[in-house]
Amino acid sequence: MADKKIIAVVGATGQQGSGLVKAILADPAGGFAARAITRDPNSDKARELARLGAEVVAGDVDDEESLKRAFAGAYGAYCVTFYWAHMSPEKEKVEAAALARAAKAAGVKHVIWSTLEDSRKWIPLSDNRMPTLMEQYKVPHFDAKGEADQIFTSLGVPTTFLLTSFYWDNFIYFGMGPKKGPDGVLGITLPLGGKKFPGMASEDIGACAYGIFKGGEAYIGKRVGIAGEHLTGAEMAAGFSKALGQTVRYNEVDPAVYRSFGFPGADDLGNMFQFNRDFADMFCAARSLDVSRTLNPRLKTFSAWLEENKKRIPLE
Ligand SMILES: NC(=O)c1ccc[n+]([C@@H]2O[C@H](COP(=O)([O-])OP(=O)(O)OC[C@H]3O[C@@H](n4cnc5c(N)ncnc54)[C@H](OP(=O)(O)O)[C@@H]3O)[C@@H](O)[C@H]2O)c1
Repeated sequence: MADKKIIAVVGATGQQGSGLVKAILADPAGGFAARAITRDPNSDKARELARLGAEVVAGDVDDEESLKRAFAGAYGAYCVTFYWAHMSPEKEKVEAAALARAAKAAGVKHVIWSTLEDSRKWIPLSDNRMPTLMEQYKVPHFDAKGEADQIFTSLGVPTTFLLTSFYWDNFIYFGMGPKKGPDGVLGITLPLGGKKFPGMASEDIGACAYGIFKGGEAYIGKRVGIAGEHLTGAEMAAGFSKALGQTVRYNEVDPAVYRSFGFPGADDLGNMFQFNRDFADMFCAARSLDVSRTLNPRLKTFSAWLEENKKRIPLE
């Protein structure tokens, strides 16, 4: 243990972080130790990580001093922010800056910053093809992360910028699963047209991140995009139909219709899907399946993910 390189994992009890903690623990000969950062070391999830062999420490992205303590002595740090906990891009940028400064102060040798594209580089605020949100953003939960990249760079933090993909787990936890239409037939409703959309099992993000930490220096300063598959809405619907043994349709809607659904964040997600749809080639090219599989040879396909999770998908 003492000679292992410690990876401090923010969000260790969550979807991205837990995948990394588990990947580290699953490879005891790999030379790395997992330090799980949580706001509550006594929670069931935190205790479970400790039981599996992780060091569990307290830390909060809203408390920079706690991050410095949590990063102290670590070789690496996995840095992620939690947009959907507050839905404030301003807060997300403050949190990213706290993570970057804490990593710098602790002398962390390799940071992975879980980021996304700043959509405004492709769709400036003056572009009316989608509405501007919160006065300064097109896709707030992408833009804040992308904007925060330069904080890591300007502080000289040795960083890999990890471009993640849509979690297929959103079909379980984010209310995006198949729903019955008026005719009783299930359907997934997405504004993706006929374009390919990168997605992945959320736990594979952490497993790919582990591959990046193992790769070390070669990845510092690089942008690495990951995905499990690039699939159209129709292909995802066909995957559901096969896994569930009943027809699941792809209901293609216009992004404006999706934005009008009215649930919290519908406008942000409508813009996100439109950004993905209108720049699908760029999104897919930035998320090579070969690179993802090299980082994580056990990378799941959609059908493998469905097979494992189909019983947990709520069918409304
Ligand atoms: N959903 C998607 O398809 C998707 C795709 C790409 C990127 N993302 C991005 O992923 C990010 C969220 O990552 P995730 O899905 O891994 O999160 P998650 O599963 O919601 O888990 C977040 C974990 O982080 C911890 N946490 C929450 N607030 C914290 C805070 N203030 N300080 C420290 N820890 C905190 C919580 O653990 P404790 O309670 O133990 O502290 C929680 O278990 C979001 O910013 C989102 O935009 C999402």
